[in-house]
Amino acid sequence: MSEAIIKTEEITKVYGMGAVQVRALDGVSLNIHEGEFVAIMGPSGSGKSTLMNIIGCLDRPTAGKYILASEDVSEMDKADLAHIRNRRIGFIFQAYNLLPRTSALDNVLLPMLYRRESHITEAEQKDKAIEMLEAVGLGDRIYHLPHEMSGGQTQRVAIARALINDPVIILADEPTGNLDSKSGEEIMTILSDLHAAGRTIVMVTHDQEIADFAERNIHFLDGHIDKDLNNGQLKGSKAKKAAKQAKQKTGSEPVDDAKQAGKHAGKEADNESS
Ligand SMILES: Nc1ncnc2c1ncn2[C@@H]1O[C@H](COP(=O)(O)OP(=O)(O)OP(=O)(O)O)[C@@H](O)[C@H]1O
Ligand SMILES: [Mg+2]
Repeated sequence: MSEAIIKTEEITKVYGMGAVQVRALDGVSLNIHEGEFVAIMGPSGSGKSTLMNIIGCLDRPTAGKYILASEDVSEMDKADLAHIRNRRIGFIFQAYNLLPRTSALDNVLLPMLYRRESHITEAEQKDKAIEMLEAVGLGDRIYHLPHEMSGGQTQRVAIARALINDPVIILADEPTGNLDSKSGEEIMTILSDLHAAGRTIVMVTHDQEIADFAERNIHFLDGHIDKDLNNGQLKGSKAKKAAKQAKQKTGSEPVDDAKQAGKHAGKEADNESS
């Protein structure tokens, strides 16, 4: 197997250095390989979002090591973390909501503005953003504001924004959390297609139906890994079916993955029960 793209060694995270301390993560060692699709599960407060923040270089562990794509990021300063984040990671987080008075197009363009080494012109950036919105089935909504779109559509804008800088890792914290089941399935179809095209995806969910799209389910409990299950062995996982379908639909051109992914965004995901 290839080198792990995400590697944590005995990570702990302690919040609040005063009288009341919360040990949100308590010795988490984890390897995630390139191209894996992992669902993180577990009760409220078990440390899932804390782990996602660290994996996404939004926060640093109190102790332990985090190696991202062979780089030790646990000791990096804020500026370097921001740089790595922008270059390697696409976020679909609730906390990373869209800017409210900003069009879909400008929301998608946002991460490009922060790119240090951007060589492409404004016009090219705009073309790329439009391409991303088309890819998630929103070519006819590019000038709409977030409140002029449905929940599933705003979540798709967030996905387009997460993909604009070609991240190697996509982190999604409850991407279907506030959606009805049909919009949720649409989002999962896009994520499955991205997985089939070779992206590494780490997703938090409370919903086993959603977790079934992933090939691996990691369960957290009180800040540590309780179970690490291979979904393929667990049951006929949706991931394989969805990935297979996606591959048949898209072919295997990695360059066009995002674009291809979205072509199917409007269709129902595989909802055959396993
Ligand atoms: N900034 C913070 N300061 C202090 N404590 C925090 C902070 N962020 C999280 N915690 C605590 O750390 C623990 C883990 O929180 P975390 O957000 O990772 O849980 P979670 O598994 O994502 O839960 P949920 O499913 O409810 O989103 C919780 O007990 C929480 O209260
Ligand atoms: Mg959370």
